[in-house]
Amino acid sequence: MNLDQGQHKDTGPSLRRVYLDHAATTRVRPEVVTAMVNFMGEDFGNPSSIHGWGRVAREAMEQSRANVARLIGARATEIIFTSGGTEADNLAIIGVAMASRGKGKRHLITSQIEHHAVLHTCEYLEEHGFEVTYLPVDADGLVDPQDVAAAIRPDTALVTIMHGNNEVGTLEPVEDIGLVCRERGVPFHTDAVQSAGKVPIDVNAMNIDLLTLSAHKMYGPKGVGALYLRRGTRLEPLQHGGSHERKMRAGTENVPGIVGLGVAAGLAYDELAETSKTLAAMRDRLIEGLLALPNTKLNGHRTRRLPHNVNVSFRDIEGESVLLALDMNGIAASTGSACTSGSLSPSHVLMAMGNTHQDAQGSIRMTLGRDNQPEDVDYVLERMVPIVERLRLMSPLAEGTLRPRGEETPEPAAQPEGSQCACETEEEAPK
Ligand SMILES: Cc1ncc(COP(=O)(O)O)c(C=O)c1O
Repeated sequence: MNLDQGQHKDTGPSLRRVYLDHAATTRVRPEVVTAMVNFMGEDFGNPSSIHGWGRVAREAMEQSRANVARLIGARATEIIFTSGGTEADNLAIIGVAMASRGKGKRHLITSQIEHHAVLHTCEYLEEHGFEVTYLPVDADGLVDPQDVAAAIRPDTALVTIMHGNNEVGTLEPVEDIGLVCRERGVPFHTDAVQSAGKVPIDVNAMNIDLLTLSAHKMYGPKGVGALYLRRGTRLEPLQHGGSHERKMRAGTENVPGIVGLGVAAGLAYDELAETSKTLAAMRDRLIEGLLALPNTKLNGHRTRRLPHNVNVSFRDIEGESVLLALDMNGIAASTGSACTSGSLSPSHVLMAMGNTHQDAQGSIRMTLGRDNQPEDVDYVLERMVPIVERLRLMSPLAEGTLRPRGEETPEPAAQPEGSQCACETEEEAPK
């Protein structure tokens, strides 16, 4: 299969291909691939070995650690490499909870709109005797720092609130939440998987004690990420074995992956201001064009928003149907997080923001990336108008309002085989 930008095995030669699912994953940058390949071939050493091969691997790993630290204003010694965002979230939440349990601290605070890597980890801890407060959000998806302050108890072990929401793009007031936590002596973790490399982050200015990031959301490889752990924050490791990563994460390091993360983080830091400006300009044009369609609403905060995120709800139509129609026009988007698309239950994020079931089902997420051009936005808007009009005419939800009198409801388009998300389980499927 040709891996050139935009190519897809089902593609006809003339169709424009527009990838607007950068919140799900990003294409690995060529500079990253080149650096990684060396560490799978010639420089294949184990960083724990004391000979020359080992030293080369160790030096490259330490350079990556320095690059990741620079991206978030941390020290290199405060970075722990992991197998991705999910592992870093688990390590932060379970690790701090376990380290605090001896002091009788068995309470955690999070929000209702976190990624499942956080929510399911909190639920796991509840099954093991911890108590969790799930804070509500307002209609824009914002957590109120005053709610965090009110929820903190003497036995609170950790507050974990995400930085940028993966579905609706809202940027949480982490600086203020971190300040509340600092004043009360409670460690503060933030999941910055979607925001790292897109908006400036300084763990000191933002009062963050632990932070999660992932390489594949910033043009690095899948299966590698990092946890920032402020010096002095107590954490119990989840994996036991060798003394890798200062005994916080046993196991021979994924050197090619870590090198890839380091190069991606370095480039993201150097280009952050420029890239986020370009992305935000395309985002705003896309939002403006979509909101010009009747009965369409923006999900997420209008300005406190990730520069690459657009999320809208079209009244009376299913987001899934829009996605299928977009796909037939060569446009890749999503209905929410990669792990809930394909499941018919509405997004927990949109429901927590007070949307109706119907508005939540009519949502689609489009996330821009560095390979997108302003012409992609024009193309999407041009294709979207007839798609939305046609689906509204077909929609049983819009009965009596939009369908021409006397027309029968057409059969819904058949779902192509394999259109369900790989991670949908039978449990999540509608009964
Ligand atoms: C906010 C957020 N947290 C965590 C993750 C999980 O990261 P990873 O895919 O590296 O395990 C994701 C991935 O979509 C995410 O968007």
